Amino acid sequence: MEFKIKTGALATHKTPCLVLGIFEKRKLSGPAERIDEASDGHLSRLLKKGDIEGEAGQTLMLYDLPGVTAERVLLIGLGKKKDFTRANYRKALAAATTLLQQSGAGEATLALPETLPNTLDLYTSVRDAVVTVEDKVYRYNRTKNDTRAPKTPLKRLNLWVGKKSEVAQAERAARHGQAMAEGIRLARELGNLPGNLCTPSYLAEQARALGNQYPKLEVEVLEEDQMAELGMGALLSVSRGSRQPAKLIVMHYRGAPKETKPLVLVGKGLTFDAGGISLKPAAEMDEMKYDMAGGAAVIGALRAACELDLPIHLIGVVPASENLPDGAANKPGDIVTSLSGQTIEILNTDAEGRLILCDALTYCERFDPEIVVDLATLTGACVVALGKHPAGLFTTDDRLAAELLAAGEAAGDRAWRLPLWDEYQSQLDSNFADMANVGGRDGGAITAACFLARFTKTYRWAHLDIAGITWLTGKEKGGTGRPVALLTHWLLERAGQG
Ligand code: BES
Ligand code: MN
Ligand code: ZN
Repeated sequence: MEFKIKTGALATHKTPCLVLGIFEKRKLSGPAERIDEASDGHLSRLLKKGDIEGEAGQTLMLYDLPGVTAERVLLIGLGKKKDFTRANYRKALAAATTLLQQSGAGEATLALPETLPNTLDLYTSVRDAVVTVEDKVYRYNRTKNDTRAPKTPLKRLNLWVGKKSEVAQAERAARHGQAMAEGIRLARELGNLPGNLCTPSYLAEQARALGNQYPKLEVEVLEEDQMAELGMGALLSVSRGSRQPAKLIVMHYRGAPKETKPLVLVGKGLTFDAGGISLKPAAEMDEMKYDMAGGAAVIGALRAACELDLPIHLIGVVPASENLPDGAANKPGDIVTSLSGQTIEILNTDAEGRLILCDALTYCERFDPEIVVDLATLTGACVVALGKHPAGLFTTDDRLAAELLAAGEAAGDRAWRLPLWDEYQSQLDSNFADMANVGGRDGGAITAACFLARFTKTYRWAHLDIAGITWLTGKEKGGTGRPVALLTHWLLERAGQG
């Protein structure tokens, strides 16, 4: 979709649809007041009829408003003015997008309220608008006849700002929002693809395609024999039960001089997790196609960084594999040797994410990283602890924790910190290996992070458990593309462009 920043007189602005905000109860936003004046009070008279109160998400389409050039005027409810929240703002944007998609407009101008509270400054409101609208127009149709696709899809959205002096900042926000949205869309699409299409090889191909698209991005894919040569016994043990070869995808983005230590993002790319011999129950097992969401978020964030041409040195690493039961698969009690040399007793083959991640994390040492952040749909326990709103954040690095939490907050893609204390480490004790791959029921998300911590001692590191946030279940089932927004915002900050 195309976004353009506009300013100037609204009443004489030519557009198929002008979108205006209404606060609860029946209060006109600034731009709506302007239109009301131009239409000789027509708008306030209409409001008196009581068709729209201004509750967040309410909509009302008006035609032929006198004194106004726009063909249609769409009123959207923003909720109460005095506690105008970002959530209400997004809700209103989503509702407006739905209606615009159903209408024949195809193009619209969104006139945001001029005064926004501190939590929603101009930059944030414009970026949020772009991300929310793009999010709403996305439709999954790769493996489905899209019979309900809009006849006149929204192709272009103008975002109107009150002052000329705001145009440059708004344009910057729109550019950031679009790069973010494209990264999110890519991550969503990869997540939504079924496991029989989105295999480790497919993920590798997608990464390679990005490498061909962006000159500063170089993509390398390690095959199983290369991983064996290196000694990645933990990663390879997971894919032994699969007919699909495992891949280690390495995406190297060089936007800064070689000497700059890189930021490294590592994402779990488990393209289907049946649990292996420790087989999962049948109910909702299909959702384990999303177990590659960490990898997809890494690919999405790299795409955003490329699109924004960020002046940073960034590396994405995606260990990709399936986890299936088979005669050759890992068995409970098996002991494997990781790339780090540490041995692992596999007590539960369903705790496979940490096995593929630990070798990928050790592999990162060769990059002499500034910081490594890994993302993984690692534990159901994290969802039990935090529910489905934030990602779980684990790190002993307070400065890094603060950065990532702030990035999540700023991007509307939040994380919440959980402890990573040594007291939990003994839960991983094993009589037969250096550690077990599971630590019992108590604090399952924490012991999983503790396991990873044993492989990240030589660099600054944080872990995001994204099991609860990367897809929705039930009627709304589908990928969310999270936490690409958090990552992109963090990268922008790191590039000095936040
Ligand atoms: N991919 C799952 C985690 C998961 C489960 C994410 C449900 C989202 C929803 C992971 O590989 C897994 O199976 N973890 C086990 C760990 C356990 C065996 C210690 C889990 O959470 O049950
Ligand atoms: Mn598992
Ligand atoms: Zn898994």
